[in-house]
Amino acid sequence: MKVLLFNGSPKTNGNTYQALCEAAHILNLAGINTEIIQVGSVRVSGCIACGGCAGGSGCVLPDPWFAQVTKKAIECDGMIFGSPVYFAGMNGTMKAFLDRLFYQRGIRQHFRLKVGAAVAVCRRAGSVGTFDEINHYFLISEMLIAPSTYWNNVLALQPGDAQNDGEGLRTMRNMARNMAWMLQMKQATRQAIPLPEAEKL
Ligand SMILES: Cc1cc2nc3c(=O)[nH]c(=O)nc-3n(C[C@H](O)[C@H](O)[C@H](O)COP(=O)(O)O)c2cc1C
Repeated sequence: MKVLLFNGSPKTNGNTYQALCEAAHILNLAGINTEIIQVGSVRVSGCIACGGCAGGSGCVLPDPWFAQVTKKAIECDGMIFGSPVYFAGMNGTMKAFLDRLFYQRGIRQHFRLKVGAAVAVCRRAGSVGTFDEINHYFLISEMLIAPSTYWNNVLALQPGDAQNDGEGLRTMRNMARNMAWMLQMKQATRQAIPLPEAEKL
């Protein structure tokens, strides 16, 4: 099994990355493969609402990086999206990325009943709103959400400060343990309990 962890920060080794690493470590201990995908330093265009994805083959913007990441997202078992908090919301690059990833017709159905988790990293304020924002993408895609012992946020300012937020890092580890359990439950019950069918509009 594999979980993708997306770092929305432009800082490749900043606090969001470190929060994600904490979760990845626990997933690895549970025998689950992980890959951290750097999003925040990529020039990601937002959705231009062209409707081109209605053809069912994904986003038609010429963007080989995005196409490759979409393929990985289809194939993985779980996804964790980490964003730094900018002005009390997720950062712009992460928003552009998530809008395009989840809007793709014919693609989003592959995310159905995969396990997801949101992570928000901030200095002081805005993490809960950011956490909620990211959860909206899971909930409209029929994804399962891994819970934790707090809302998944880490408080940190300068790169590296994340290591000083013991409760935040513990929240990441508990979320990752619960995600591992959900993935293992899904795998173990695959034959006995088939996935439910959704009614189509
Ligand atoms: C443009 C910008 C806006 C920010 N807005 C907020 C904010 O609204 N609330 C907050 O607590 N921190 C805010 N911060 C601080 C970052 O969220 C914080 O430094 C975080 O640790 C950055 O994560 P990173 O190291 O992964 O980039 C902001 C930082 C930047 C650059």
